Order: sequence, then structure tokens, then C-alpha cells
Amino acid sequence: MGLTKKQRAASYLAQHSMLLQCPICHGAMTVDDNGTVRCLANHSFDMAKQGYVNMMTHPATSMYDKSLFEARKEVIDSDLYREVYNVILAELAGDVAMLDTGCGEGSHLANLKASYSGDMVASGIDIAKEGIVQAAKNYSDMMWIVGDLAKSPYAEEAFDIILNFLSPANYDEFKRILKPSGKVIKIVPQAGYLRELRALFFADSEKESYSNDKTVTRFSENFDDVRVQRVTTTLPIRAELVPLLAHMTPMGWHQEQQIEAGTLTEITIDVDVLIGQ
Ligand SMILES: C[S@@+](CC[C@H](N)C(=O)[O-])C[C@H]1O[C@@H](n2cnc3c(N)ncnc32)[C@H](O)[C@@H]1O
Ligand SMILES: [Zn+2]
Repeated sequence: MGLTKKQRAASYLAQHSMLLQCPICHGAMTVDDNGTVRCLANHSFDMAKQGYVNMMTHPATSMYDKSLFEARKEVIDSDLYREVYNVILAELAGDVAMLDTGCGEGSHLANLKASYSGDMVASGIDIAKEGIVQAAKNYSDMMWIVGDLAKSPYAEEAFDIILNFLSPANYDEFKRILKPSGKVIKIVPQAGYLRELRALFFADSEKESYSNDKTVTRFSENFDDVRVQRVTTTLPIRAELVPLLAHMTPMGWHQEQQIEAGTLTEITIDVDVLIGQ
């Protein structure tokens, strides 16, 4: 008999339990056959049947729902972010433990793991349960956690790479859980990001002076040897993805009118990749 989804996830979690730390008392954690994660003080977090663990210590609401994460997955799977992945992959070497902070539905991390030539132990954390449920359903052999970056359930110096892909960051926490030799890779939008979509939504879409200076300054205050690499690429987009693209982005949330399939034929990805040690 093959393993169930949950048994397989429990086994992966148990194998990599040293990455975890109790978000309440900061003690070490062990994982049992059911995937329940427990510290010595008996704080425990059960694994859901889909194979993720909810390690939130307080209730949280998310602006992101199931349909938004489904739209994100479709769009991300179309390989729109391949050039960004190539920049990230070029920063990795050997066996790596990688954490995706604010991973959403997990496709970026899964794609990176699949493309990486070395061995990768991967965990994704997000405060939005709907994203993690979907991640766990779609991608096995990765550690999926519902949790808040402000109270993350990870051990000191656990990770070689911390990824922060179009998501809010928590630099104090990143520094705590990053290995001394580790790298933080943060992806932030640049002026032309989804330019064609913005042009549909807003008549006057070009922001006059757009800059990531403040983000780069804050990043540089927290990490060393900071490099910024811009990735700009315009790709053809399949007609059926256009409404999904509109739905997945915050600017689409307040739109009354539906964006029709085929309204756009190409889309621009324009991001800064911030890399620090
Ligand atoms: C714009 S989405 C990006 C998701 C994914 N990285 C992607 O590119 O598709 C931002 C994500 O950050 C998550 N997030 C926001 N605050 C968080 C926090 N304090 N802890 C963990 N995740 C958080 C949100 O739930 C959301 O999934
Ligand atoms: Zn504890």
C-alpha cells in the first residue's frame, strides 16, 4: 500500500524537524507519525489531511481567498516568471534549505525546487490558510506551514536561502532563521510590472516617478553585500489567462467590469531582485 498524502507529508516533516522551533516557547520540536508537531512543553500543532501544519498562535484574517490563489497558480504555471527564477537559481549552490516567506499557493517554490540541479529542502509559510491548503494539495515533499512571519515556527540559523516573492518581509525574523552563510532574495515590483494590465484598468497608468529606493535602503540596512538585479521581460499571454491575471492582482479586486479573455496578447514582468547576505 502506498502512503497517504498525510503520511508522506508527516514523514517529510519528521525528516526535517530540526528546521522547526516552537512559536510559543521557542523549544525544539518533534514530529510523530500523524504529523503532529510538538515541543517539550507540550505545545502541539496537528497536521491537516492535505499535509500542512497550522502553526498560527493567534487568529488572522487574510485578504486572499481560494479563487485568487487558484488564479495565481494558473498564471504562475504558464512560466511567466522563468527569467526571475533563473536569477534566483543562479544564487544557489550545493544542497540548500530554502524558505519561501509569504509563499501563497506555493507554485514559485515548487517550480524552483523542480528546476534546481542540487538537492533542496523546501518550506513555504503563509498567513493565508487557503494558499497553504492549495500548496499542500498540489505539491508533495515540501514543508507547508500556515503561520505568521512575525512569530515564525523556524529554528535559529535554519535556512541557506530565504525567498520573499512579492510579499511583505520581516527582517529581524529573517536574520534569526538565516544561516551565517545564507542569502535573502527579495522580489519587488518595478515600474513596468503588469504594465499592460494596469493600462486596461487605469487610463493614466504610468506612474510618473517610480522607485524602489526606500525598499532597497531598508534591505541594505539589514543585510550585507546587497545587489539589485532588474528583470524585465514581455511575454505573449494565452487568452484564457487574461481574466485570471486580472483576478490575481490587488488592482483587480475593486474592478466592477470583467476583463475579457483575449483583451491582452502580451504581458510585462518587471521586477527588482534584491540579494543580500
Ligand atoms: C502578493 S501575495 C504573494 C504570494 C506569492 N509569493 C506569489 O508571488 O504568488 C503576498 C502573500 O503574503 C502573505 N502574507 C502577508 N503577511 C504575512 C505574514 N505576516 N506572515 C506570512 N505571510 C504573510 C499573504 O497571505 C499573501 O499570500
Ligand atoms: Zn512550546
